[in-house]
Amino acid sequence: MQMNIMVTGGAGFLGSNFIGYMLDTYTDCRIINFDKLTYAGNLDNLAGYSWRSDYQFVLGDICDRAAVDKVLRHYEIEAIVNFAAESHVDRSIADPSAFAMTNVVGTQTLLDAAVSAGVRRFVQISTDEVYGSLGDTGWFTEESGYAPNNPYSASKAAADMFIRAYYQTYGLHVNYVRCSNTYGPRQYPEKLIPRTITDAIADRPVIIHGEGQSIRDWLYIGDNAAAIDLVLKKGEPGEIYNIGAEQERRTIDVAKAVLDQLGKPHSLICFTEDRPSQDYRYANKFDKIRRELGWYPVCRFEEGLMLTVDWYVRNRQWWSPLLTKDSLPVSSRISG
Ligand SMILES: NC(=O)c1ccc[n+]([C@@H]2O[C@H](COP(=O)([O-])OP(=O)(O)OC[C@H]3O[C@@H](n4cnc5c(N)ncnc54)[C@H](O)[C@@H]3O)[C@@H](O)[C@H]2O)c1
Repeated sequence: MQMNIMVTGGAGFLGSNFIGYMLDTYTDCRIINFDKLTYAGNLDNLAGYSWRSDYQFVLGDICDRAAVDKVLRHYEIEAIVNFAAESHVDRSIADPSAFAMTNVVGTQTLLDAAVSAGVRRFVQISTDEVYGSLGDTGWFTEESGYAPNNPYSASKAAADMFIRAYYQTYGLHVNYVRCSNTYGPRQYPEKLIPRTITDAIADRPVIIHGEGQSIRDWLYIGDNAAAIDLVLKKGEPGEIYNIGAEQERRTIDVAKAVLDQLGKPHSLICFTEDRPSQDYRYANKFDKIRRELGWYPVCRFEEGLMLTVDWYVRNRQWWSPLLTKDSLPVSSRISG
């Protein structure tokens, strides 16, 4: 039997890769991509699927209850996967209000509409950043407490609180997937890896926050999509699932690895002031999803980076128009 899935934010990086993964893998699901098309949304990401009868795009804002209700009823939606968000930490420092609106009010609006329409499953795409920062040792588990340090992570933590409340209060079948830093093709070139690649290709300075000593665990986009699919199908009600890759790298080493792959000199790297409230290290333990759902990451960082660099080299027409549209100052564009 066909499953009708509403994917919000499906024109962005994670959402478009998830939609592609689902449509390539299954013949019994229909995807409704509901996206506001902010600066980060790009329908070119799904150009290969736009002709298919099991894929439909609807322009809309998750804060707009009437528009959400209409989609839920018209397409008889059974599951929602909520990727829609303002996703860039530096932008959240410059203007937190958009983050509160989409990430918190938008999530609550979707949850409310889901309960009213009798949606059977709701998967929230969350982040390890809700846990705050680690020192040199230890990991985040699903039991780690909330300690967000910037407006982006605060808004994601607040959304997670609403997810919990709708499970406890209304019995909505919810799951949260807390992703570590994800990278791969079609990521907007404001984030660390695509920004470094696109700057290096153009021989522009590669700007790194602080001394690049922060540490992130790098998860390839294909592994991310597979995990979300499993949680959507098999997640236990109310449960959180951390995902990560055990591929921790310092930011400076990520930048150097990109330059090495492109055959560019390390002298392109220059340093700028560290972000206020920069988190030092994130590292998700993902034993729970491995044990309970059988997911584990298969792509090592070096392999995923090669695939990613290769994609940006071959798809300049995708990213070069985005650079001229971007209004953030160069020094605040790099994010880990
Ligand atoms: N990229 C990562 O490394 C990462 C890691 C952990 C968690 N996440 C989470 O995954 C989700 C997707 O991240 P991404 O990197 O793909 O983001 P992105 O910025 O690439 O895409 C966000 C998408 O949401 C859409 N959108 C924004 N506001 C909307 C609104 N009000 N209504 C409808 N659509 C709206 C945008 O148009 C865009 O298509 C986010 O919730 C983010 O917090 C991302």
